[in-house]
Amino acid sequence: MRRALVTGGASGIGAAVARRLAADGQQVVVADLQGDAARELAAAIGGIGLTLDVTDYDAVGAAVSAHGPFAVLVTCAGVDQHAFFTRTTPADWRRLLAVNLDAVLNTTHAVLPAMQAAGWGRIVNVASEAGRLGSRGGAVYAAAKGGVIAFTRSIARENGRQGITANVVAPGPIDTPLLRQAVAQGGEKLMAAMTGATLAGRLGTADEVAATVAFLASEPAAYITGEVLGVSGGMGC
Ligand code: NAI
Repeated sequence: MRRALVTGGASGIGAAVARRLAADGQQVVVADLQGDAARELAAAIGGIGLTLDVTDYDAVGAAVSAHGPFAVLVTCAGVDQHAFFTRTTPADWRRLLAVNLDAVLNTTHAVLPAMQAAGWGRIVNVASEAGRLGSRGGAVYAAAKGGVIAFTRSIARENGRQGITANVVAPGPIDTPLLRQAVAQGGEKLMAAMTGATLAGRLGTADEVAATVAFLASEPAAYITGEVLGVSGGMGC
């Protein structure tokens, strides 16, 4: 049984990923700031739930030492803020970059040595179409997600001969608490703009993203690495 670490696993896409990986037979460690929700979900899927702030490098290292080694890492922790760039502050930038980018570095740094030693690993980072297309009202979020894409491709390059793949899943608008919070800030016009930007003309579901993540985390996906796979109803195509 492989062990998977899912960050941001208490809610939305991360929770769907945790459920899906457990259904596929993996032992899942659900790590989230919302520790109670993480433990509740973990109990339901036979995994382990942890309170973890993924922006804290030392805490991430301690959690991985205590509960690893991990064969699979899926980073889903993320925060968004809908505001034009000139209305944001350096404190906003630091928070967005810390959760959406630094945390991916923290977790990857903690899990990679054991994957290298095992000669097998799957890293799937959940970025966003914003990281490829940019985002009106989400410039710093998009910068962080673009950073995740470049970082993931670099990790794929460094580890391709060691049985480790690293890929990005780039969701479009997915019906989760994070999206509902953005709509609360940006209004119904934002919702219409988001669904209108997709070819499918609707929001996606967390389960649709989880199915793609689970494939990239599986054995048959061994020859897919350094890719960015949009799960976005055709947004930007
Ligand atoms: P969500 O808000 O439902 O879940 C995010 C989870 O991350 C929450 O459980 C939250 O507690 C956790 N989290 C936040 N900061 C954390 C920290 N410092 N340490 C540990 N956990 C932390 O959001 P959703 O929609 O499921 O998002 C998952 C990922 O998908 C995020 O990276 C987001 O940027 C990305 N995404 C989501 C889209 C959407 O439309 N919902 C679109 C594109 C990307």
